[in-house]
Amino acid sequence: MKNLIRKVPHLLPVALLALTLIGSQPALAQEAGDHQYTSEAIETGSRLYAQQCALCHGPQGDVVDGVNLRIGQFPTVQSDDDLRQVVTQGAAEGRMPAFSLRAEELDGVIAFIRAGFDPDGVAVKIGDPVRGKALFDGEGQCADCHRVRGVGPRTAPDLSNIGSIRTPAALQRNMLDPAAALFPINRPVRIVTRNEETIVGRRLNEDTYTVQIVDSNERLRSLKKSDLVTYEISNEPSKQPTTLSSDEVADVIGYLLTLRGL
Ligand code: HEC
Ligand code: HEC
Repeated sequence: MKNLIRKVPHLLPVALLALTLIGSQPALAQEAGDHQYTSEAIETGSRLYAQQCALCHGPQGDVVDGVNLRIGQFPTVQSDDDLRQVVTQGAAEGRMPAFSLRAEELDGVIAFIRAGFDPDGVAVKIGDPVRGKALFDGEGQCADCHRVRGVGPRTAPDLSNIGSIRTPAALQRNMLDPAAALFPINRPVRIVTRNEETIVGRRLNEDTYTVQIVDSNERLRSLKKSDLVTYEISNEPSKQPTTLSSDEVADVIGYLLTLRGL
């Protein structure tokens, strides 16, 4: 009983915080479901794959040279529409035949591939990288904060290699629910030094005695903790969930996946 009473005061603020977070952005929040294929689709695709594709591509999707369907390694395919086109029109001068499938079978086999052949996996929709780049630089306002291939500010993480370090599901979560996707180390900080300088920025690294940040003027700063009067770390992400539509988010993910180093 004593234990229970001691726990309650800790739980209450957490519950309230969760409520305010949920309550604060109802208009912007998008359902992840609009951006992903359903588990029924993955299931349908799994059956169709076993019947029609496994023959050549193998149960793990890695039998045809240069193609690994499970981990998404394709000679030419990028977007889900590219996948649809290959399946409905065939490939490699007829070595892969054209399939005529019902719409839900076609969606299903794409869902199964995007889920990494995992019936419990997340099958994120992936759109057109060219449209995605235009949205990234324009309406999506991503380029206002992010740097890609040497262009853009340094206030947010450089995304030049993001396609090789994050999964489509992680990229999607960052856009739809930045609070949930926030890495502890990336949190916004507000610091006041002994010299009465106020520094607002993003934390890059921290050890027992020092903290490294990028300040609001994009300067890299390393500060001794003993010189700091105030050091506040925010749990709020520095951005709002995107207002782009689900198709547009899919396009931006398509673009981000093409960013694989310089
Ligand atoms: C008769 C054998 C055969 C069957 C059946 C087959 N494929 Fe293929 N598939 C191939 C060959 C061969 C390639 C070409 C690899 C290349 O371009 O060098 C290929 C390529 C692909 C690619 C990569 C295309 C690209 O250019 O990026 C995808 C995706 C693909 N197949 C999906 C499927 C799916 C899904 C099915 C079942 C609906 C399927 N394949 C059935 C033989 C087959
Ligand atoms: C107001 C500035 C701002 C805008 C606008 C913005 N971001 Fe971010 N983004 C950040 C900051 C700061 C972080 C690092 C904190 C975090 O992890 O959330 C971040 C993190 C990310 C990450 C995670 C990086 C990683 O290492 O995993 C991705 C991906 C990303 N943003 C993509 C986008 C895309 C795509 C858009 C446009 C739809 C966008 N951002 C718009 C500021 C911004």
